Amino acid sequence: MKQDSLDFSLEDFKQLLDRSSTLVLNQFQGLDKSKGYHDFPQQEVEDWFAESLPKKGMDISLLLDDVAKKVLRTATGNLGPHMYAYVMSGGNQVSILAEQLATTINQNQTKWHLGPAMNEIEKRVIAWTAELLKFPEDSGGVLVSGGSAANLTGLTVGRNIFFEKEGIRKKGVFGQKPFIVYASEEVHSCIDKSVELLGIGSNHLRKIKTNSEFQIDLTALKNQIEEDISAGYQPFCIVGNAGTVNTGAIDDLNALADIAESYELWYHIDGAYGALAGILDSLKKEYLGMNRADSIALDFHKWLYQPFEAGCTIVRNWNNLKRTYYKPAPYLDTELSNDGKRLEFNEHYFQLSRNAKAFKVWMTIKAYGMERIKAMIQKDIDLTNYLNEQIKKSNDFELVADSKLAVSCFRFKGNMTNPSEIIDFNQRLMPELEKDGRVFIMGTKLKGQYAIRACFINHRKTRETTDYLLDVIRDVAKTYSSLNS
Ligand SMILES: Cc1ncc(COP(=O)(O)O)c(C=O)c1O
Repeated sequence: MKQDSLDFSLEDFKQLLDRSSTLVLNQFQGLDKSKGYHDFPQQEVEDWFAESLPKKGMDISLLLDDVAKKVLRTATGNLGPHMYAYVMSGGNQVSILAEQLATTINQNQTKWHLGPAMNEIEKRVIAWTAELLKFPEDSGGVLVSGGSAANLTGLTVGRNIFFEKEGIRKKGVFGQKPFIVYASEEVHSCIDKSVELLGIGSNHLRKIKTNSEFQIDLTALKNQIEEDISAGYQPFCIVGNAGTVNTGAIDDLNALADIAESYELWYHIDGAYGALAGILDSLKKEYLGMNRADSIALDFHKWLYQPFEAGCTIVRNWNNLKRTYYKPAPYLDTELSNDGKRLEFNEHYFQLSRNAKAFKVWMTIKAYGMERIKAMIQKDIDLTNYLNEQIKKSNDFELVADSKLAVSCFRFKGNMTNPSEIIDFNQRLMPELEKDGRVFIMGTKLKGQYAIRACFINHRKTRETTDYLLDVIRDVAKTYSSLNS
């Protein structure tokens, strides 16, 4: 290593890159047999890294050995097919290349001239996303860290534009009648967090009951809006779900657009999980009205198979972003060199320095093409349906909620017949499955009742790996029952 900078010689660096490529390839070896979870005790993992601040550097090849042993080999099996916990994807190989290249050139496309190509690439990804969603051609948008940030961004734009006349950016929310946000009781907790961060307060988030398909009850919504108007509140925003986190339920997005229009409310859609499934021919009908939203949140590290992090907010035009975020500062001023054609992302979003998140998305779409990505999304859904069929056919499982998307909620029932015994058993089974680790799966509560929840956003799953899931649950349940009988 040179001593007057942090660089290696090119020859040494090449060796390290080769080594790093080998480590990457190792992660893909035997992926179909990889564990979903490695059950190391917390203290053991903490101890691996417990050391005082290194004053002197170490041999990088020893460091890579250490990384391979403690980080890569122990990693939770997100890449592999046995991961069902949370709504996450297994990433894709083109994005691995893209991330390395983007990190190499270290562009900060917050200003156009800091990363001209990356800046135009992000604009292109926004344009493609708007096209996929059937949003207007001049839609604006930004890449953000994920679904939570995308929802916060959409609601921030909504709040600042909706209350622009009140000068909310300068005065804050003080002196306003409380304004009310409406969403179904199935809405993701990031909406609660956003409402709190935006100063609206979670007391002003109305969680409307859902029907048997976990979609927002439209009559209850209208009644609540009327009630709030009569009580002197200011209805402000409806949040529609284009795929709920629990069951993938898609609200009646067109009816919500009608309600938002008739009460002149901001219409935001949380499409973090499911918006991209709207491109499937099989689901077109479910997504009618999605393109009527004022803002929409997407999560490319879900159904665009991106590695973390990549979320996206789309709004109906660029100016809405600028009216929300632009703050002049002399040290950022490039007015004289900008002929009006350069888009300055920092004027359209909260962050100043930003990595080039759009690059991996752009490379993914170009390398695979949307047709192939679409086929993978459909495959995830088909496999979920396959799992549901196996559950329905079996004597020892029960399906709790069907989904139009790729999430299945079910319970193991074995020989049990008492519903509360089954629910209790499934809840207690979860830590056992985690200890076993062959598959990684989590549970949730639907209408207050516990169920196992399997998410299928991973292009590496197959029918065999899906059968394996049920076999492992059966096996762990049997061992657990025998230990407790
Ligand atoms: C519907 C929905 N909204 C928001 C989020 C939050 O996304 P992220 O974890 O990327 O912040 C999720 C995550 O699962 C989700 O399913």
